[in-house]
Amino acid sequence: MITEIRASAPGKIILSGEHFVVHGSYSVAAAINKRVYVSVREINGKDQIVSNDISSNLDSDDGSFPAVKSVTRNILSIARNRKHSPFEISISSEIPSGSGLGSSAAVSVACSAALSEFLGIPLNKEEISNLAFKGESTVHGNPSGLDIQACQSGGLIVFKKSFETRSIHLKDPVRLLVVFSGRKRSTSKLIAKVADRRTEYPNQFQRLVDSASSGSFEMVDALKSRDLSKIGSLFTSLQVQLSWIGVSTPQLDDLIEFLYKKQEVLGAKLTGAGGGGSIIAAIKSGSEDSVLKYVSSQYPYSFVTEIPQEGLRWEKATG
Ligand code: MEV
Repeated sequence: MITEIRASAPGKIILSGEHFVVHGSYSVAAAINKRVYVSVREINGKDQIVSNDISSNLDSDDGSFPAVKSVTRNILSIARNRKHSPFEISISSEIPSGSGLGSSAAVSVACSAALSEFLGIPLNKEEISNLAFKGESTVHGNPSGLDIQACQSGGLIVFKKSFETRSIHLKDPVRLLVVFSGRKRSTSKLIAKVADRRTEYPNQFQRLVDSASSGSFEMVDALKSRDLSKIGSLFTSLQVQLSWIGVSTPQLDDLIEFLYKKQEVLGAKLTGAGGGGSIIAAIKSGSEDSVLKYVSSQYPYSFVTEIPQEGLRWEKATG
């Protein structure tokens, strides 16, 4: 009998097209080297979810673990004729929540995979994505599906809503700096704010959607040729567009300014929903560690990630 199942999924960074992707642009995202681990094991008592010091019964509406509860309830309704032992879903994450690095997408993906396997109804990739998407939507309101795709498939992807996601092969990995500003943000509020901006300035907004699409294709070319200067200059121009739609903040601008004091920094932009969260930067090859040391003194949750990284995977059970 299965007593424990463990899966993990990576966080993500968006290199081009966040927000505009909700309104139809192409976007580029990649999995990062930080993951969320989910294990499901039999217990005595009620079905429950635990993470660090927090625990919650599945049937409690205490507002905790909204994405995981949504995924779990949907999977249980698919498996309704099957008897199952009470279970505990335990989450351990290397990604701070609210950091814009895909923690809710990663937990939704890993939970869909681990719980369905535990209940004996293994799902295919598309079914996992669909359930995870519903889970993420409870947190993010009206997401595009980009985060779920990046966390599930891993690697580097080009994504457009309602189109097939394309995986991009990189001959040589690319190293990027990721810095969490320390400010958590609400993706759903930011998505709503950007929708208002679109209503206010429909023509300018549409031009930016088109420009995000062409920026995404240029980004893919720059990544394929590992042209760090080009990646950096694209980051810089994308950041201007993100500021225009109102998702950058003075703190993120200060963080980017702080980075630009180092001449090895070739360009930087916010990644994800903005309003706080994280930024990514292209750094001259060979200088990543020294810039990381510099930025970590002020922003402790900073790291260098190589892309591509593996997507959803099974882990050895610990118990
Ligand atoms: C959030 O990581 C990315 C957004 O574009 C929202 C979405 O695509 O679902 C802001």
